[in-house]
Amino acid sequence: MEIPWWRDAVVYEIYVRSFADASGDGVGDLPGIRQRLPYLAELGVDAIWLTPFYRSPMADGGYDVADYRDVDPLFGTLADFDALVAEAHRLGLRVIVDIVPNHSSSEHEWFQAALRGEGRERYMFRDGGDLPPNNWQSTFSGPAWTKTPDGQWYLHLFASGQPDFNWRNPEVHAEFLDVLRFWLDREVDGFRIDVAMGLYKAEGLPDTPPEDQAFKAESPIWGRPEVHEVYREWRKVLDSYPGERMAIGEVWTDSAEDLALYVRPDELHQSFNFAWLEAPWSAPAFRKIIDDTLDAVTAPTWVLSNHDVVRHVTRYGEGLTDSTPGLARGRAALLAMLALPGSAYLYQGEELGLPEVKDLPPEARQDPIFVRSEGRLPGRDGCRVPLPWSGAAEPYGFSPDGVRPWLPQPAEWATLNAERQAGDPGSTLSFYQEALRARRALRGSLDDRVTWLESPADALFFSRGPLTCVINCGSEPVQLPPHDRVLIGSAPIEGHLLLPDTAAWLYTP
Ligand code: NOJ
Repeated sequence: MEIPWWRDAVVYEIYVRSFADASGDGVGDLPGIRQRLPYLAELGVDAIWLTPFYRSPMADGGYDVADYRDVDPLFGTLADFDALVAEAHRLGLRVIVDIVPNHSSSEHEWFQAALRGEGRERYMFRDGGDLPPNNWQSTFSGPAWTKTPDGQWYLHLFASGQPDFNWRNPEVHAEFLDVLRFWLDREVDGFRIDVAMGLYKAEGLPDTPPEDQAFKAESPIWGRPEVHEVYREWRKVLDSYPGERMAIGEVWTDSAEDLALYVRPDELHQSFNFAWLEAPWSAPAFRKIIDDTLDAVTAPTWVLSNHDVVRHVTRYGEGLTDSTPGLARGRAALLAMLALPGSAYLYQGEELGLPEVKDLPPEARQDPIFVRSEGRLPGRDGCRVPLPWSGAAEPYGFSPDGVRPWLPQPAEWATLNAERQAGDPGSTLSFYQEALRARRALRGSLDDRVTWLESPADALFFSRGPLTCVINCGSEPVQLPPHDRVLIGSAPIEGHLLLPDTAAWLYTP
């Protein structure tokens, strides 16, 4: 049976500011992405997800949208967007765009009007006096309320330049339905929904203990039941368009059952499953995540890195040399993830094995988390450093020569640039290409379910019909289970042993 494209797609996240700069201002842009589309087709992904490129004062890298229907001049024009979509489609790549419904920018015309006293019911304004209306803290640290000159306070779960919408107001619903149509009419294949578990806040906005202010299945701030009605409305719009248009929710939660609520048949098609990305390097932890996910959701997704978290090569153990395990583990985790049923989301640069950049100078950092925490928290700039494409020094082909990228690139990236890796069969880029090719070749021939095979405690062996995936998270080599041949290894597989920090795909017809 034909399954919809998104069901087992490999989607590549493009953090637009940091992918490729065609205009020469040091910031990535839509024409830069378009020029590099052949690289992505060659890599073997099925779709790209573009982070916000809308008009924005960039208080949060574009997740503060001032106009949902236009491209920020920093990134190009609507014509550039149309050309990018057309070219992506020509190359067989689908395009997913980000939609940010929890909050707008404080520069949005609705919020500007609200500050003048018009239409405040579109946002979360409350009386407070000298103190904020409740004890809620911003996810980016500091209070979640800012006082306006006339004495009222407005809620912002993120930066103060990101006022939260009031989703109890039907006007907000109508506006977003229209925004969806605007981009669907421009032929996008889907949406990634920012903070999809936000939107509604408990009536009365009660004071909430700090532990319940974190992302959770049940909290006065996140995952309110009313939010599901929004996605039922959105699903109707998506279904009214030809082609298989889809939506994936950014749902941070502590429960797989809660995640499943967002992907009921009349709601979103997918939600991000962040459990693996939050897990340590551990076979039992990975097995539990796989079981919990497959038990709870019918359209699973897997993700190891994105623009909000420390890159997984670094999470799994610093560094890129043979004596540090991060890169080996990252490659092994990729093979395990790509062997599972469902779709996989990759983050730009992981195919080059890029580590987190930890030593960015304070004056270069731009993440509001760094700024709002007064430097206590490093923020997310370290995973957003512009990609190295070619050459031995900054800007590594990201920008035209002589231009300084918006974040400095490390000198050690000289050996990691894409051009160099493309010519090296042992590189991480070549490994990603090979793994994605192997996955494509197996498409349609694998079981939907995972069958666990007996394995040592620190390893996982699972099969899906003819494919068996093995991963060794322990410190001793393990014996491979019986198989016909090795399809691919995250490192060379010699004899019948799987070395520590290694994964492989075994084939038995
Ligand atoms: C999630 C996005 O991925 C992140 O980058 C952003 O800061 C917050 N949502 C707020 O929009």
